[in-house]
Amino acid sequence: MANEQQFKLKTRYIATRGVREYRETIPSVVGADDVVLEIGCEWGTTTVLLARQCREVIGTDVSPDCIARARQMHPDLHFEVLDAFDVRAALALGRPFTKVYVDLSGFSSYRALLDVIALLTMYATVLRPDAIVVKSGALKQFAAYCSAWRSPER
Ligand SMILES: C[S@@+](CC[C@H](N)C(=O)[O-])C[C@H]1O[C@@H](n2cnc3c(N)ncnc32)[C@H](O)[C@@H]1O
Repeated sequence: MANEQQFKLKTRYIATRGVREYRETIPSVVGADDVVLEIGCEWGTTTVLLARQCREVIGTDVSPDCIARARQMHPDLHFEVLDAFDVRAALALGRPFTKVYVDLSGFSSYRALLDVIALLTMYATVLRPDAIVVKSGALKQFAAYCSAWRSPER
């Protein structure tokens, strides 16, 4: 049963629509002390932008081909093959991630909304970053009409 003592996540979720919005969050969200996990990095285009703002970034993707190409194009950056749904593998990267960026194919459709929320909650619980930025038009639309009720007496 819910009560005021139980564990509550403090991670902020930032939902963006399209890659332009996803990338434009970087200067506002990422600071010089941040350690960033990027999930769904493809060839590392966003990884380059993240690397300019933070202490460390690891770009990850489920596709070994994408990671091979990312490593070839950006030999100075750190890339790993990782399935986003294998959160234990993300934990095994062994970094104190403070920000997570998530851009997975198919995450913008309304049918994916529950998967998006489940994945974000899983990362928030296990890694406890300050913020997770996700590219999901469906989550952005949902969040735009979603608010947490506060009782008037508080
Ligand atoms: C739209 S692309 C990402 C583009 C990239 N974020 C950028 O800014 O250039 C989506 C990526 O998600 C990856 N992907 C799809 N399912 C995944 C999963 N389960 N785990 C990790 N990556 C996944 C795909 O391989 C693809 O490279």
